[in-house]
Amino acid sequence: MKPSNFLQKASSILESLRKDLLFRTLEVPSGFDLSSNDYLRLSKHPRLIQSLKEGLDRYGAGSGASRLVSGHRDCFDLAERSVSAWTGAEDALFVANGYAANVGLLSCLSNAKTEVFTDRLNHASILDGIRLSGAEKTYYKHLNLNHLEELLKKSSKREKIIVSETVFSMDGDLAPIEELLELKRRYDAVLILDDAHGIGVFGENGEGRASQILGRDKIREVDFITYTAGKALGLEGAWIGTSTIGRDFLVNRMRTFIYSTAPLPAITHSIPTAVDLLQSMKEERTIILRTAERLREMLFEKGYPASNSRSQIVPALFPSEKSVLDAAELCRNEGLHVKAIRPPTVTVPRLRLSVHSDTDEILLEKLISLLPEL
Ligand SMILES: Cc1ncc(COP(=O)(O)O)c(C=O)c1O
Repeated sequence: MKPSNFLQKASSILESLRKDLLFRTLEVPSGFDLSSNDYLRLSKHPRLIQSLKEGLDRYGAGSGASRLVSGHRDCFDLAERSVSAWTGAEDALFVANGYAANVGLLSCLSNAKTEVFTDRLNHASILDGIRLSGAEKTYYKHLNLNHLEELLKKSSKREKIIVSETVFSMDGDLAPIEELLELKRRYDAVLILDDAHGIGVFGENGEGRASQILGRDKIREVDFITYTAGKALGLEGAWIGTSTIGRDFLVNRMRTFIYSTAPLPAITHSIPTAVDLLQSMKEERTIILRTAERLREMLFEKGYPASNSRSQIVPALFPSEKSVLDAAELCRNEGLHVKAIRPPTVTVPRLRLSVHSDTDEILLEKLISLLPEL
């Protein structure tokens, strides 16, 4: 049988990805994990696992419908209250995952009358949400707020949205949150932050980077903050921290919330346990950030370009796809699970190393000894 047009076209696209060493495959991780976002290893914590089991017993295996139909349960309210109290938000709305949160949020807040100012390195889910909304998308240079302000000044649109990650997922560098808030005030813009990699790791009680920087008095000036439960909270899902009016707006307008089955209730049942555990992990947070600092020093000593990372995410930049794939494979063969990240996810190929609460100096030495000198 002659292959269909689609199969012919797909095969030729896949062939060129293979040729450029950009073909992606799935693999079950093995060896010591240096690439997941389970920064405090909560996904393996006995108390969290127990709480999930209790949730399954109490609420069953699935929610059965969207929350607006018959999928809502009391554990969603409890989880939203728990994360709001933790981060200092007035209210919160729990959704299936961070991707759905960002796509849903950006696409329901903006339309053709809006100009959305997005950091050049923001996550794909943010960019996809802007695209879906039909708003004008304007990139500002990564972390460059002078550039952002120039663009805001030039804008003729009445509705403006500024959106930034707080801890950038592939570079581990940090957004200037106070300055972003200042620009929001000056230009009467909506401010959206994505604290996916800040929650659990930053702040005295793990309340995230936005709350750490802005404190209880200013955090509510940020219109919407996306948090994920699939990273430091060790579960899955996400929530948007906002005002009560903001939450009502999302419940009525956010299509990824309205037209999607409610997340597994057992997950939201377990959220307060994850919050409780994270609040008590001050020491682990200090260790993670100190170990990440040490890793940056060791990479630099081995000839890797200095990175602007100031977080648990530490990129080791490589000159080519081949060199980064070889390094990842060598590490894997020696029992370390590190992941090569390549275009189009990033422009410069890299090992995206993430430091966890159990990453120690011996492990760092092993990793560094396996990496090629640059
Ligand atoms: C900054 C950022 N936002 C959103 C997401 C999406 O979150 P989730 O994995 O829960 O869909 C991710 C995760 O990949 C992320 O890194």
